[in-house]
Amino acid sequence: MKICIFGAGYVGLVAAACFAESGNTVTAVDVDETKIEALKQGNIPIYEPGLKEMILRNLAEGRLSFTTNATEAIQSSLVSFIAVGTPPGEDGSADLKYVLEVASEIGRAMTGFKIVVDKSTVPVGTADKVRAAISEQLNIRGVDLEFDVVSNPELLKEGAAIEDFMKPDRVVIGTDNVRTAEIMKELYDPFMRKQNRMIVMDIRSAEMTKYAANAMLATRISFMNQIANLCDHMGADVSAVREGIGSDSRIGYDFLFPGPGYGGSCFPKDVKALVRTAEECNYDFLLLKAVEEVNERQKEVLADRLIRELGAPNQAQPLAGRIIACWGLSFKPRTDDMREAPAITIIERLLAAGATVRAHDPEAIKEAKKVFGDRIEFSHNQYEILDNADALTIITDWNEYRNPDFDRIKASLKNATIVDGRNLYKPKRMAAAGFRYLPLGRNG
Ligand code: UGA
Repeated sequence: MKICIFGAGYVGLVAAACFAESGNTVTAVDVDETKIEALKQGNIPIYEPGLKEMILRNLAEGRLSFTTNATEAIQSSLVSFIAVGTPPGEDGSADLKYVLEVASEIGRAMTGFKIVVDKSTVPVGTADKVRAAISEQLNIRGVDLEFDVVSNPELLKEGAAIEDFMKPDRVVIGTDNVRTAEIMKELYDPFMRKQNRMIVMDIRSAEMTKYAANAMLATRISFMNQIANLCDHMGADVSAVREGIGSDSRIGYDFLFPGPGYGGSCFPKDVKALVRTAEECNYDFLLLKAVEEVNERQKEVLADRLIRELGAPNQAQPLAGRIIACWGLSFKPRTDDMREAPAITIIERLLAAGATVRAHDPEAIKEAKKVFGDRIEFSHNQYEILDNADALTIITDWNEYRNPDFDRIKASLKNATIVDGRNLYKPKRMAAAGFRYLPLGRNG
């Protein structure tokens, strides 16, 4: 099938690569000429395991191409995916400017039947706006062409995006047209070899599904973060509690890990947008507002602990003269993405408290430099930054940090203090090894 994908960002590139991999002819379109030129040369702007290899292979075999020429891409494709960004507007609602620009572009360029698929995360009702934008252009041109708008929200996770796309738990398709549903099934069929995981529903429910899924996951995380904080007060161990509740099949074990707060380009933005959507309907989404507030407070927990452990009391800059080493900057492992990363809040707080901050991350140093400039020291060696530091804090759960050389850590740190935001080690073993080890919710 011939398809084009608007937006060579995270979602667009993964979808373009995977649809090309399954034999389709795919054109990825973006307005950013520098980005498109770089992609043509095989330079991929984001880090995602397996993506680069897949793009290079499909580029070489001619199934995938990159262009800024939207008209040509639209005219030569049956299906056009919209995967451009929906950044939060000032009030938290998703800004549909880019989505609707693409829709108008499609209306201006199309010459025959088109299926237009919303893949960007867009609020309920966006498909109607996309339809209206296309119709408006067709009216201006005075032509009467058939098209169908589909909602196909992207449900993949960064760091596992290729795997999620090629072997999805489910693919949600929102459409009211049987013929279009069949075409979408054909497109996704190669990824459903073992089991059919297509869920076809009406458009508004598909749009809502995406927000409800992310809001539910964010809720679990905030809930578990509060349970962990309470465990600290009560002398209970949150990892035992997780085992205990996760064994109930209605609850399950996933997404119950406490941490320094959720980050990334999805949860914070989608939770805000759903609260905003509810407000527009005069509905107060109390629960989600609390989820958001809990998350903001959770981002303070690691810095609070470091200040409590090492800070000079009653000083404006309690950590002046202290050196804090940070392991992990990206919002989660296997990505270089710094968007809404808890590391930003934590490190800003440490800097404001007067600390010298040194950081290591396997992939995100380049992105983190854009955030912190030279206000913190970076190293590609996770041990180098420990020399003479007062404490180590673990912010991101990269595998590299799971089984480190504890002797070396102890010998390097001035105070053998580790504030662990990801509960990577066993508290008893750490105590026996002479560390002052402070995980989340396991200080019983
Ligand atoms: C999330 C969803 O998991 C995907 O299903 C969804 O498609 C995607 O958003 C999206 O809307 O595009 P992603 O943002 O890539 O995916 O990352 P997650 O793996 O969900 O992690 C989000 C944040 O939650 C991270 O900061 C992570 O550290 C945190 N987290 C996750 C916890 O603190 N505890 C957990 O138990 C799990």
